Amino acid sequence: MRKLFFIAFFAATNAFGQQLLPLPQQVKTERGTVEYTPAAVALDANMAEAVRRGDYPQSAEAYTLRITADGVQVEAATSLGRLRASQTLEQLSDAKGRVPYCTIDDAPAYSWRGAMLDVSRHFFPLSFVKKQIDVLSYYKVNRLHLHLTDAAGWRMEIKRYPRLTSFAAFRPFDSWKTWWNGREDHGGINDPLRRKYMNEDEPGACGGYYTQQELRELVEYAAERGITIIPEIEMPAHSEEVLTAYPELSCTHEPYKQADFCPGSVATYDFLEHVLEEVMDVFPSYYIHVGGDEAAKASWGTCPRCQQKMQELGTDNLHKLQSHLIAHMGRFLEKHGRQLIGWDEIIDENLSKNTTVMVWRNADFAADAVRNGYDVILSPGSHCYLDGYQDAPNKQPEAMGGFTTLEKVYGFEPGGNLSPAERQKHVKGVQGNLWTEYVPTEEHVEYMLYPRILALAEIGWNGTSTKDYPAFRKRAAAEVERLRANGVNAFDLSTEIGNRRETLSPIKHLARGCKVTYAAEAPYNTTAYAAAGDVSMTDGLRGGWNYGDGRWQGFIGGKEARFDATVDLGTVKTIKMVQTDFMQMCGPEIFYPQDYIVSVSNDGVNFKELGRMHRDSERTDVPDVTTFSVKQKARARYIRVQATPSTFGGWLFADEIVVK
Ligand code: ACM
Ligand code: ZN
Repeated sequence: MRKLFFIAFFAATNAFGQQLLPLPQQVKTERGTVEYTPAAVALDANMAEAVRRGDYPQSAEAYTLRITADGVQVEAATSLGRLRASQTLEQLSDAKGRVPYCTIDDAPAYSWRGAMLDVSRHFFPLSFVKKQIDVLSYYKVNRLHLHLTDAAGWRMEIKRYPRLTSFAAFRPFDSWKTWWNGREDHGGINDPLRRKYMNEDEPGACGGYYTQQELRELVEYAAERGITIIPEIEMPAHSEEVLTAYPELSCTHEPYKQADFCPGSVATYDFLEHVLEEVMDVFPSYYIHVGGDEAAKASWGTCPRCQQKMQELGTDNLHKLQSHLIAHMGRFLEKHGRQLIGWDEIIDENLSKNTTVMVWRNADFAADAVRNGYDVILSPGSHCYLDGYQDAPNKQPEAMGGFTTLEKVYGFEPGGNLSPAERQKHVKGVQGNLWTEYVPTEEHVEYMLYPRILALAEIGWNGTSTKDYPAFRKRAAAEVERLRANGVNAFDLSTEIGNRRETLSPIKHLARGCKVTYAAEAPYNTTAYAAAGDVSMTDGLRGGWNYGDGRWQGFIGGKEARFDATVDLGTVKTIKMVQTDFMQMCGPEIFYPQDYIVSVSNDGVNFKELGRMHRDSERTDVPDVTTFSVKQKARARYIRVQATPSTFGGWLFADEIVVK
């Protein structure tokens, strides 16, 4: 029986190979088709309410579909299950309105299959968000998380605090990058309009916000399509816009000075509770996201109110001040029948167990959250951040950094570091996050979302036990064609270049496997960018487009610091050329060196410069890799390679000292 089932299953994936995404759990096919007119399924009132809240059981989405000569038969315990069945039927239906005979027994692997859109860094109109809901729903994504507030703009009407939208939702530049960095021709960081806000009615004000009426409309629109809207209101950090509109909520009470609320002030708690009251009024979602990430806590250590609060709490740890605020908000939400979600910085043992942690840094934080008894949603930057480059960065529009291809996203193994029991009990699901610092237009949002979010839709629904990337890629490519034909600007997978060719096979050269000694004043970063450690520069392995791929070695280039490594060839050899690839990616402050200097020696003590290559430092929008080389014939045993940092400081990233 078991064997037969698998034969049927694989037959099914072949027959439906181009059609179903996400792939259903169990499919059995037979020859033949029957005519079928897809009909929209409306949720009944109870189910619609459950979807608005987003706390329905996973089984509510299950359905069985039987397609025979007699027609189409759908079995489901809920109208949401029938909606999911109708979405599968829509995908099965061919151009002539026929569906193949089959039996599909289906249910999601995870209850949370989310997408996050950052509408703060760039604002997108309601009509566009609705369009994305239509697309996401088709792939059975069931949560849309809106990042509604951040330094770049507050996006939700709050009636009690009108300046959040009349002022903090507008800025002098449409482009986040210009707003954040200042205009080059106006002095860059000295541009007087840099990171400023504006009144809504001032000429040139860019930005926008959603009225509460619009957001209610969005909640309904999404619920009808099986999607819950999850609002996020950032606290205590990422709040420059609030603290400029209402400076009394910051430690120093000065506008344009603080990113973090003052957690020592009663006014902060009052404000946040009042805001969350209106948020809960508009969004029925059981889960309310309060951010909680990246608080620098810069002013807390010297603020008398914060210091007083820490004394009351009996702590000298600033993190405890943050967790006091988060725990307070968690209790407040719980009192209103809701549950707090926060980014993984919220983890602390004092939170209510009714807390969900959205993991973004790495898997260790999932383990930490689970061991503290909290549920988790997994959206690690390594696999789920859709603001990274999806293809060769030198051929892509500027992005945040990284190299997060469709294959990389599909390679995500949710909760791979947890025990099966922990996974079962605490992992609610997966989410793809699209931060929009470098995503200024609607077309660009679609380009970054699709097809990568489809990989997470597939993992979220089908799980990971039957993963098959080549088969998935074929289905995703078919979806890309369909999306593009329907006016969705998906990245065209047929143009995909992939990783640097240099990564495909190790390079052979004279220094391969030779010992490398680093100058004491030029150490590599040992926490994240050590690559293979001391052997990395001669292991033959070249780096790819991801500077965190374990092949690039990273050096912080301060004024004094430099790349300075000496290779011992073992014996005196004839050399003709020494070369090293360096990466430049300005977003994360990775720059080419200014000077690449090669010296040689036979005793390892007395070196003679063989040659150098100079490159003027320059900021570029397009990341790239450049080979620095010195071509000069010599006989030597020791080769010393030095690289001086750019005029911007930042990092140097090198992958191999190649000697020919
Ligand atoms: C985050 O990326 N700071 C959640
Ligand atoms: Zn304070």
